[in-house]
Amino acid sequence: MLEQLNQILEAGLASLQEIQEEETLQQWRVTYLGRSSALMQSFDRLGQLPKEERPVIGRRANEVKQALEAALANRSEALHQAALNRSLQTERFDVTLPGRPFPIGRLHPSTSTLRQVYKIFAEMGFQVFRSREVETDEYNFQLLNFPLNHPAREMQDSFYVDVGERGDNPVLLRTHTSPGQVHAMREYSSRNPADPPSVRIILPGMCFRYEQVTTTHEAQFNQVEGLAVGRHITFGDLKGTLSDFARRMYGQNVGSRFRASHFPFTEPSAEMDIECFLCGGAGCQVCKYSGWLEILGCGMVHPIVLQNGGYDPERYSGYAFGMGLERIAMLRHNIDNIRYFWANDLRFLEQF
Ligand code: FA5
Repeated sequence: MLEQLNQILEAGLASLQEIQEEETLQQWRVTYLGRSSALMQSFDRLGQLPKEERPVIGRRANEVKQALEAALANRSEALHQAALNRSLQTERFDVTLPGRPFPIGRLHPSTSTLRQVYKIFAEMGFQVFRSREVETDEYNFQLLNFPLNHPAREMQDSFYVDVGERGDNPVLLRTHTSPGQVHAMREYSSRNPADPPSVRIILPGMCFRYEQVTTTHEAQFNQVEGLAVGRHITFGDLKGTLSDFARRMYGQNVGSRFRASHFPFTEPSAEMDIECFLCGGAGCQVCKYSGWLEILGCGMVHPIVLQNGGYDPERYSGYAFGMGLERIAMLRHNIDNIRYFWANDLRFLEQF
């Protein structure tokens, strides 16, 4: 029996030395130390031995077991170290290499300018009202006092979506944010038709025009419409609000001017210009040698438009304005060509 235990120890140690993979150690453990291994069976057979032999054989069996367990632990550690060294050698990487830059997005200059416009008008008590980009001719023109076939429509040629059977009311991409004025007034006045609440909103969004692209004109651009309707609102309120807006946007000393103009949906009407940032008023290609850049159209809401919105022009008055957001951004950041805004050129976008 003693001889057999010594053989188990010898064979176990010898086969352990031949193992080169950590995964094979488990198989070795089952063979030499598992429940049905020869060593474990010798423990089971102890009871059948003569009484005087039992302590000697038992002690030796325990010694063999401990020796095999210790050898297994050593071999396991050695193989683990070897595997680690191998992976350190073969999978080496240089921790001093610079990391890959993570491209960080940023706000488009139109978006950041829009947020600034929101902030300024929020401080003056204006709420944001959203209106649709795809409109009917009725809202884009007719309810704004552009009669059918009126030459004033020439100023705002559109992209038509659905002409088909719609006769005088085709579906089109809105040419300005002004149709939102009528949507908003109708929504507000429907709350209390006999005594509609006053309105003080701005309406931002994309507009589309079928026109020649130049340094200051794009086929798609953002406008921010403003509308205030209530009792006793005057042209003085309009001028005061817009002059204050210009000062808050461009600083106290910015030069601005109002020019008489014409829009079918306001009476009287005006356009507001800001001193050209590029030439400082001397005249250049961007300002068409006038020294001024037009940023918005405005005026007192026409009585017919008030009526179309559900407001009695005898009791209510209001002003409205529509500013070109990219023009505002151009003045803010000294951008000399509106084409950059939608060209998707990272060299431009990364500057903001
Ligand atoms: C209008 O669109 C009127 N709806 C504005 C208005 C609203 C007047 C409320 C009265 C009351 P206009 O076509 O001038 O007006 O455009 C207004 C502003 O939008 C312009 O001053 C300009 O800043 C901008 N804009 C107009 N066309 C373009 C274009 N093609 N590309 C970029 N910006 C434009």
